[in-house]
Amino acid sequence: MRCLGIESSCDETALAIVDDGRLVDAVMSTQAELHALFGGVVPELASREHYRLIGRMFDSLMLRCGLGVQDIDVISVARGPGLLGSLLVGVGFAKGLALAGGQRLVGVNHLHAHLLAAGLEHRLVFPALGVLVSGGHTHLYRIDSPRNFTLVGRTLDDAAGEAFDKVAKMLNLPYPGGRFIDVLGHMADPDDSMFPRPYTDNDNLDFSFSGLKTAVSTWLKAHGGTALAAPLAESELQAMLQNNVLPSGMPADMPLVCASFNAAVADTLYIKARRALQRLGGRGQIRSVVVAGGVAANSRVRTSMQRLAAEEGLHLHLPSPALCTDNGAMIAYTGWLLASEGLHHSLELETMPRGRVIPDDYIHDAH
Ligand code: KG4
Ligand code: ZN
Repeated sequence: MRCLGIESSCDETALAIVDDGRLVDAVMSTQAELHALFGGVVPELASREHYRLIGRMFDSLMLRCGLGVQDIDVISVARGPGLLGSLLVGVGFAKGLALAGGQRLVGVNHLHAHLLAAGLEHRLVFPALGVLVSGGHTHLYRIDSPRNFTLVGRTLDDAAGEAFDKVAKMLNLPYPGGRFIDVLGHMADPDDSMFPRPYTDNDNLDFSFSGLKTAVSTWLKAHGGTALAAPLAESELQAMLQNNVLPSGMPADMPLVCASFNAAVADTLYIKARRALQRLGGRGQIRSVVVAGGVAANSRVRTSMQRLAAEEGLHLHLPSPALCTDNGAMIAYTGWLLASEGLHHSLELETMPRGRVIPDDYIHDAH
């Protein structure tokens, strides 16, 4: 069964084809540079860009694969959560294709797709603890099957990625700044006493990163001159990302701030994920840990999740960094998994913006 996946929930337009559970090919276009000019995603511009690109990206993917629309069996699309205008572009395009070609339409939960993407690299083992750490969400799930997700913990305010991006902004690093903090944070040892492990001194599985953000801001105010005086040139950013070269005018304490903040986030995720495993019955009940979302590309987060899985004796599914950030393969793969179980949607498929619960409203085809 060949499934096309369409992703347009935020600022990446991405399409991919999965055939019998394996990735055939994928195309992706990020709008990061456009939104960086505004310091964050501008929804109206995002949807216009998706609309401008989606048709030509579909054509180039099909051409590269040597396929026609008639060779596709299932069309899957991210239906939410995300920016409504952006989602509508992908869902509208998917419905148009399905209507014209008669393929099965499968609406995919973008968050579930992030976690299931790990299955493209290694067969997923359920029940699993899902740790989703992206720019918009920090969620802990019990996952029993590709369709069956139970939310057990979530952020009460900022998502982990949002905290990275806001701290990066305080330091005058470009948006989205998570990866710059990651790289800079490797140029110093973290000082664990510098920032709190926020909202861990309680009895629940939820997160709150806003206090950590405030702690960084307070520290920066007390230590004037730690942030960059002006944004770095593109060449300096690239040298930093690719060769770990510290830009010449960079304040000496910036790597320390990045390392210590990054360690605080990684420790917090470790503490809550570990607590979730215990609550869910530990190794006897849960067989693996799946970590996904843009922040799962973070090296300190990856190390702390590796430690957790090793200590608990569980399989760890940690997708390669390209599968962690938004991509079309995760939608195509999830669509393929669901369609393989006989699940699909009609053309009435609804698009769900952020904040609305995504219903389990599949049509089940017994044949
Ligand atoms: O999952 P994603 O691509 O988009 C959403 O669905 O939100 O996640 C984007 C987030 C951004 O906040 C970005 O700064 C963060 O992931 N991110 C990182 C790293 N790479 C991306 N954060 C920390 N370290 C990284 N290496
Ligand atoms: Zn995402």
